[in-house]
Amino acid sequence: MATSTRLDLPAFARLRRLRATPSLRRMVRETALTPADFILPFFVTHGQDVRHPVSSMPGVFQLSVDELVREARTAAGLGVPAVLLFGLPAFKDATGSEGYASDGIVARAVAALKDALPDLTVITDICLCEYTDHGHCGIVRDGQVLNDPSLELLAQMAVTHAEAGADMVAPSDMMDGHVAALRQALDRAGHSGTPIMGYSAKFASAFYGPFREAAESAPQFGDRRGYQMDPANGREALREIEADLAEGADIIMVKPALAYLDLIRAARDRIDHPIAAYNVSGEYAMVKAAAANGWLDERQITLEILTGIKRAGADLIITYAAADAARWLNG
Ligand code: PBG
Repeated sequence: MATSTRLDLPAFARLRRLRATPSLRRMVRETALTPADFILPFFVTHGQDVRHPVSSMPGVFQLSVDELVREARTAAGLGVPAVLLFGLPAFKDATGSEGYASDGIVARAVAALKDALPDLTVITDICLCEYTDHGHCGIVRDGQVLNDPSLELLAQMAVTHAEAGADMVAPSDMMDGHVAALRQALDRAGHSGTPIMGYSAKFASAFYGPFREAAESAPQFGDRRGYQMDPANGREALREIEADLAEGADIIMVKPALAYLDLIRAARDRIDHPIAAYNVSGEYAMVKAAAANGWLDERQITLEILTGIKRAGADLIITYAAADAARWLNG
């Protein structure tokens, strides 16, 4: 026979009261995700009518400039304010020449986007790894990635992109002094109004695997641990952020996002600059793979992830799911 326990309940908080209806839940919701939070990355390649799928990132393509403009227009129409461009050069060499050539692929893409969609914010990635034959983010000599000589080329790339019309540049190379180098070069070239979003706390992460297929930028020897951060180091990440701010960064970034939410929060509590978080390729690929297997609900999980990143303290979220998420939020 079932026995019932008669409790003499103490007073306790009734937190469920404010969860009872959709309206109440909406009223007390603390974090509001909007399409204005998103930055959508693109991989741009030479040619016309090119839509080359990236196998490890379903829904992501290497796009020629004409296709890029079309996709960017769709995203802008959904309320996504900004795109971030990565370039696939026609050829790679030791110093990544196409990266800072005035007719390089990103410079062309920027010009076409600003022409077609003048209100769209066009941000360019500043790094050598997509353009170098060795796949490292700086110049290599005797197997070493050199810091200061790389800064000159990265600064040149930033000026080239600004000259093409880029609204913002985002150095992802993880060389020391990169923001200072870009700031000085931009100012001297008459682009003191071009903001810099520093990839400040960028970790040497296995979550970048699919990106390296998309950008064809895997290092041909060694790895990036000599310049990207050790995933174990949180305090050092705050020093990187402070260094970029001292050099003049307008926005700082934590990357990847999901395994580093503590650092987004720590940065938020410490600084007043805008903070960006990069919901990177591997984070996107995991969701896509699980959803394709029917293991996760893609829409719900994507919005939950993006909300979590914003709740942690990010003002801006760079995500390959920006257009889909904007559609879901608008819908
Ligand atoms: C280039 C760069 C990388 C990413 C952004 N810029 C790859 C890397 O550092 O190896 C990764 C982005 C992603 O995984 O979505 N330095």
